[in-house]
Amino acid sequence: MTRLSINTPRLISEINQLATFSDAPAPAVTRILYSDQDQAARVWLRQRILDAGLTMREDALGNLFARLIGSDPTLPAVGTGSHIDAIPHSGKYDGVVGVLGGLEAIRALQEAGIKPKRSIELVMFTAEEPTRFGIGCLGSRAMAGTLKPAELLAMTDSDGANLDDLRKGAGFTQSLDTVQLSPETYSSFIELHIEQGPRLERDKLQIGIVTSIAAPATLRVVLHGDGGHAGATLMPGRRDALVAASEIVQDVERAAHESGSPDAVATVGLLQVHPGAVNSIPSKVTLEIDIRDTRLDSRDGMVDRVLAKIEEVCERRKIGRDVEVLNRDDPCQSGPHIIKAAESVTQELGYSYKKLVSRAYHDTLFMAQLCPTAMIFVPSENGYSHRPEEYTTDEEIARGVEVLALTMAKLANE
Ligand code: GLV
Ligand code: MN
Ligand code: MN
Repeated sequence: MTRLSINTPRLISEINQLATFSDAPAPAVTRILYSDQDQAARVWLRQRILDAGLTMREDALGNLFARLIGSDPTLPAVGTGSHIDAIPHSGKYDGVVGVLGGLEAIRALQEAGIKPKRSIELVMFTAEEPTRFGIGCLGSRAMAGTLKPAELLAMTDSDGANLDDLRKGAGFTQSLDTVQLSPETYSSFIELHIEQGPRLERDKLQIGIVTSIAAPATLRVVLHGDGGHAGATLMPGRRDALVAASEIVQDVERAAHESGSPDAVATVGLLQVHPGAVNSIPSKVTLEIDIRDTRLDSRDGMVDRVLAKIEEVCERRKIGRDVEVLNRDDPCQSGPHIIKAAESVTQELGYSYKKLVSRAYHDTLFMAQLCPTAMIFVPSENGYSHRPEEYTTDEEIARGVEVLALTMAKLANE
């Protein structure tokens, strides 16, 4: 098999440049959808894509598509890509390795003089992270048609700004009806990503081939109690929203521990207390709850248990509540044919690998509703992710890019 030359210094320098578009000081990265830093990062990325001579388009949400035109452009393309938004105080590799690594994979194919039959398209998905609108994979959900234009129009961020105004302000003014893609767009989709967990490093393996993605669910709960003076209001009859929340937080953790499933995880990652003063009884608390499992029955069991607990606590404590299930997604299975292609490329390159489940979600979860998909993982040092210490070595990233490029070349010639 032809070995590809990956320009690792160029790629790593680009990863480092992209990390400078951040609202948090290095080494942390914070890049929130449609923020000034996100906009500046997009300007920078567009230039890299144009420099590579790719055909570029952006849709009404800011999903960006960069295409290497194949010798038969009428055929469905091979897709790759990931995201460049970063949750608060995150690292520089999550998502970015799939976008800049995907770009590097395409440039490596171009520079090797490989002309694929199908076009190969890099996608930079808008807002894989749920930071701004509470729901992850905003761009890919809309592309797959899981999130409809009417639902997008109704979405607001935590400051009450609406998505429609924000995306138009960012320059994405077309009709939202144009975001959904036809299932004819891609013949296959393959995403490169850091593992975000410790399995590859622990087993001293170079490549992971993802066979399925765990099923995520997100709940947003607003508890309404009664506020007042922390000194002057005696304890009998208090309706403290934070104490109610604390019971719920404890039960979320127990739900995962007691589920009996080894892959069950449940987290309260956000808790906002109003009015948030030491001498004031909390009158309102917002919680966001993240619940996942590779098994749908177990994930749904945890969600139902937590919903029941919220009712029980609120009834007992006379707390009002607004409970929203923001998403309750199914897991996805990778396409056997793409797994096989990635596996044979990895074997031919002589890289060590294993097949594994992705416990984190990715845009691939929604691309799987459009075409067969798979993912390639590279190791994460200490399994760290969603924190500034996230790290994957240059060589590990380059291996992932090489496997991605040659797998795409294989799929693009079918
Ligand atoms: C994606 O960032 C996830 O939360 O899995
Ligand atoms: Mn992430
Ligand atoms: Mn990611």
